[in-house]
Amino acid sequence: MVYMGHKIAVYGASGLTGRFVLAELEKRGFEPLPFGRAQATADDPAALDRALTGAAAVINTAGPFAVTALPLISAAERAGIPYVDVAAEIEANADTFARGATIPVVPAMAFYGGLADLMITTAMGDWTSADEAHIAYGLSNWQPTPGTLAAGAISRERRNGQRVRFRDGALQYHDDPQPTLDWNFPSGPREVIAEFSMADIVTIPSHLQIPSVTSYMATTAAQGLHEAAPRQEPETFEVDVRVRRNGEERQMTITGRDIYAASAPLAVEAVERLLTNRFKVTGVASAGAMFDAEDFLAAFDMPTI
Ligand SMILES: NC(=O)c1ccc[n+]([C@@H]2O[C@H](COP(=O)([O-])OP(=O)(O)OC[C@H]3O[C@@H](n4cnc5c(N)ncnc54)[C@H](OP(=O)(O)O)[C@@H]3O)[C@@H](O)[C@H]2O)c1
Repeated sequence: MVYMGHKIAVYGASGLTGRFVLAELEKRGFEPLPFGRAQATADDPAALDRALTGAAAVINTAGPFAVTALPLISAAERAGIPYVDVAAEIEANADTFARGATIPVVPAMAFYGGLADLMITTAMGDWTSADEAHIAYGLSNWQPTPGTLAAGAISRERRNGQRVRFRDGALQYHDDPQPTLDWNFPSGPREVIAEFSMADIVTIPSHLQIPSVTSYMATTAAQGLHEAAPRQEPETFEVDVRVRRNGEERQMTITGRDIYAASAPLAVEAVERLLTNRFKVTGVASAGAMFDAEDFLAAFDMPTI
């Protein structure tokens, strides 16, 4: 099936990420069709169908995705168009994979979930399996939007306040203490919280044979999640990924600025590839499985180390 067109529906278009996505679509010559819950709530299939009329693809930036993802995927399926979202909710991402789809669906196509999946897939190179993957987020700080805080709250609720990690080839819910350690980023060592699980623990194992996937967050940035305040100067980031097999390590680092702004070109690049027949799966697939990961990353000017 070939998908084409230039009108892209954007759900949650009033949010910070949605606004970055609208700007990125316009920059690339697409025509955005912005909408939100004022036009169509997630539990109103007829309104969603009306909102998707004429669209070539839909980007969902409206969290909590526990509420919006599956209804939007169903609407995209009825319209016969690809679906991309920026969900960073582990349980919602897992629900999307479990659902499956008859159209191309790319969950977590954003800073968390998509970027590290593209990086780990690229770092793997000719490896078909590995023992461990590690993703360290060196954020200068984290000024979460209301949408991020709502997503975190709903995820915590869904896991009954427990923590989650990916070990022995499965998501494990547990109450173990959260360890900290010093991570050697290319820019220097920083304290990180280990097992600070992000969407990567769903996206990466969805297609790579790696039984242990761990993400880490700079301690100073994690504190920002408890201190919601209007966003000021955007954060800088250093994403350092390591994949290990039989004692050998492969590594990649990307640096940049503003995790919300950086998510828009990732989502829009995905849509552009879906509409120009540069994708691999008709169904649900993460970034690294849906696209040529190395080629995808090469399309960006994010500094790579
Ligand atoms: N994976 C990643 O790296 C990544 C990156 C960026 C964002 N995200 C996620 O994307 C989501 C949005 O983030 P944001 O930064 O744009 O947040 P935001 O600025 O607070 O905007 C939230 C958006 O979601 C809409 N919304 C909230 N509840 C809704 C519901 N029940 N039904 C429909 N729409 C609803 C809001 O609409 P109203 O205007 O009507 O309130 C608004 O458009 C969050 O879940 C965030 O975690 C993930």
